Amino acid sequence: MRDSLHRSRAALLSALLVVAACHPQPSAAPAPTAIVEPRDATRVAQAAAAAAFPSGWRFPVGVKPTEAEHAMVVSNSRLASEAGIEILRAGGNAVDAAVATGFALAVTYPSAGNIGGGGFMNIRMADGRSMTLDYREMAPLASSRDMYIDANGKLTNKSTVGYLASGVPGSVAGMSEALKKYGSFTLAQVMAPAIRLAEQGFMVDSQFARGIENSRRAITPFEGKAVFFPGGEAVKAGARFVQSDLARTLKLIAEKGPKAFYEGPIADSLVAEEQRGGGIITKEDLRRYKPEWRTPIKSTYRGYTLLAMPPSSSGGITMTETLNILENFAPLPPAGSVKYAHLLAESYRRAFMDRNSKLGDPAFVKNPLHQLTSKTYAKVLATQIDLNHASKTPAFETRAEGMQTTHYSVVDNMGNAVATTTTLNGGYGSGVWVRGGGFFMNNEMDDFAAQPGTPNMFGLVQGEANSIRPGKRMLSAMDPTIVLDPEGKLLMVTGAAGGPTIITATMEVILNVIEHHMTLADAMRAPRLHHQALPDALRYEPNGLSAAVVDSLKAMGHTVSSQNGLANVNSILRVPGGWHGVYEPRSVGGAVGY
Ligand code: GLY
Repeated sequence: MRDSLHRSRAALLSALLVVAACHPQPSAAPAPTAIVEPRDATRVAQAAAAAAFPSGWRFPVGVKPTEAEHAMVVSNSRLASEAGIEILRAGGNAVDAAVATGFALAVTYPSAGNIGGGGFMNIRMADGRSMTLDYREMAPLASSRDMYIDANGKLTNKSTVGYLASGVPGSVAGMSEALKKYGSFTLAQVMAPAIRLAEQGFMVDSQFARGIENSRRAITPFEGKAVFFPGGEAVKAGARFVQSDLARTLKLIAEKGPKAFYEGPIADSLVAEEQRGGGIITKEDLRRYKPEWRTPIKSTYRGYTLLAMPPSSSGGITMTETLNILENFAPLPPAGSVKYAHLLAESYRRAFMDRNSKLGDPAFVKNPLHQLTSKTYAKVLATQIDLNHASKTPAFETRAEGMQTTHYSVVDNMGNAVATTTTLNGGYGSGVWVRGGGFFMNNEMDDFAAQPGTPNMFGLVQGEANSIRPGKRMLSAMDPTIVLDPEGKLLMVTGAAGGPTIITATMEVILNVIEHHMTLADAMRAPRLHHQALPDALRYEPNGLSAAVVDSLKAMGHTVSSQNGLANVNSILRVPGGWHGVYEPRSVGGAVGY
């Protein structure tokens, strides 16, 4: 019965997508232009009829996605997406393109793209092999559980700003490892676009310039000010932005491999910078850093398969637990309704309570994966949901939020797929800029429970499982995800930036497609909701719920608060004849295909 329900829903989705699809002209060779625009927008609009946004909502339904027949790269920087496509057109595969995009983001999207941070990569090869790579930062060997607590027992801001805030970076080791195992090009080949962008510069647009100006307080206390605020002024729109130190660093990595970063001259610059500012990352920390291959969290939702990130990220488990709870109520109420918002909030609450208290780096903590991803456990949690009343979690004070992570999605013309999320944590990380190296350091130490029971910069209250230990990875929410259709074929590549909102936004975009039958363009534009157990509030985007729905949720006992721009998602969806790509409409980016 359930299987036939799944099959009929899958058939309905396929039918909608067929209606939505605009088949690009068949051609053996790639088209000369990067983007194939839909040829019949009215057909796309028919499928978009599945979406109905509340009045006053900022985005319309039925916007055109980027369509491509062969391959697609979607990231928060059009130049970085083009770097990935350049590699694909030259014959590289999705892993080659993902690494090219990652290094290019370090140049063109420096608030989050990085070589001084870390990330997670989720790879599914066309032959069905599936694996994830954890290149999360690690706590330095000289770190300790209470290093951010002052003599009065108060949590300081040193986990977010300045030299003590950084974990040992993993990005260079991770991207190099992915390329070595599953790529087909050399580091020098895939890094060529990033090196070119750093060396020759790129034209600053108004959003890039505004982003720098808005981050004056984060950047100018440190040495990056000379590059980003030459003469005291933020780089100007229309100027060519050249990063010579970064170009030299990237060339060294391209020529000598990751050792240049972890043991060679870049390590020297990094450690010298740490020592100048009272940081604790040493040569030994860098030398010991290793990325880890891990088995993806594999789950199902109504016949679809999700491949997601295991610890040291909480992303895959928390999304799986939430979807397993929701599956008990499927088919779900319409998006935008009171019932839907209530079910999401209550499911998120329960999954985040587990996340915040039980998960941590698997090298240090026994994560109850089996329990948290079990359908039986989810069924028990589902029965505890009162359909008419909100449950409660204890209240506490939150601190200001920031978020700067970035996600990118890649598919190639063979059907290989890569979902990658990478971050410095806050925008421009700790603010510390490595002299001579030309890059920012992360402030990922704040993702630990710096003082268990006290909220971090995302308001997350976490426990001992995620307390600081030397050599430990801080728990992440990053959730690069690959979705397979009920026949096991690649359907979606997606993921997000935004701390804990990563998990909820990624899941909602997936649900919008597979449960609410929206086109990808609508799924990405639909209003988002977020709940993370603590603070005990259901967050929605302004005008993303109607006033009547907000009133009803309050009457049910929910604390409801609005927040602009929940998360930053970049997604690809398979459609008949090719791919749809959509970058985050709430932010900047580029979907580029051929
Ligand atoms: N730095 C955000 C996260 O990893 O969840």
